[in-house]
Amino acid sequence: MSTTQVVHTIAELRSQVAAARARGLKIGLVPTMGALHPGHVSLVAASARACGFTVVTVFVNPTQFGPKEDFAKYPRTLEADVAQVAAAGADLVFAPSVDEVYPAGNATFVEIGGVAEPLEGECRPGHFRGVATIVLKLFNIVGADVAYFGQKDYQQTLVVRQMVRDFNVPITVEVCPTVREPDGLAMSSRNVYLSPAERKQALALSRALRKTEQAVTAGERSVWKLRDVLQTELAATPEVRVQYAVVADAATLREPAELDRPCVALVATHVGTTRLIDNCLLRP
Ligand code: PAF
Repeated sequence: MSTTQVVHTIAELRSQVAAARARGLKIGLVPTMGALHPGHVSLVAASARACGFTVVTVFVNPTQFGPKEDFAKYPRTLEADVAQVAAAGADLVFAPSVDEVYPAGNATFVEIGGVAEPLEGECRPGHFRGVATIVLKLFNIVGADVAYFGQKDYQQTLVVRQMVRDFNVPITVEVCPTVREPDGLAMSSRNVYLSPAERKQALALSRALRKTEQAVTAGERSVWKLRDVLQTELAATPEVRVQYAVVADAATLREPAELDRPCVALVATHVGTTRLIDNCLLRP
């Protein structure tokens, strides 16, 4: 029998967290937009291992979607989400309404420079402003000790770390590895949009990243050549429309000439109307 409670208001959430704190428990936070999959479940499990009280937030955050993006059709599956996180050891699910989070008169947003500017920052103007705003709000609402994010949204993890540093937020950020389907496709809530044909085409992303990794293992150190391996493999599946495919410094997202530091290969594509991203770390 699950003991995971679901609350919808900030007041209820805060009183539950205060009670857990009074019992001396460390508080873990897993922020999500719901439509949970095994990638999210791995974050909940990591929190449950390290923290005595795990809060999962389920909130489809309108401020991080562009006007032409999929906010309205984003999958909303709260009951199934609660069952999954209960099995993984969550203690509390916070599923607020939009009005609870952004009451009338809300007028403050978080703007992040540096790592938020290239790549997703260029393709999705305003996206990281919305992400940073909701993440800071959730950090302030929950008051957790540790927050868990997936490596699949690699640039998002850099943006969150930058914000935590710049605003002196007293929280530790943990990043957990991307969870993949057996054939390599990175788990994503948006995978449900893919038709069977697109689902096969989408394998080009993980295949291209694997080839790039293999080139590094074989000794390639030129970032230009590694980017070429990545882009050539993606181009072999023309149905996959590439927005960017780059090899960048893992900390700054600038493109170095040589793989002489930790780097990351990052791809963003459209398959049909579905936007898919993926990445892998490349170590010299
Ligand atoms: O990664 C996500 O699902 C979202 O960007 C997050 C961190 C929950 C903020 O809405």
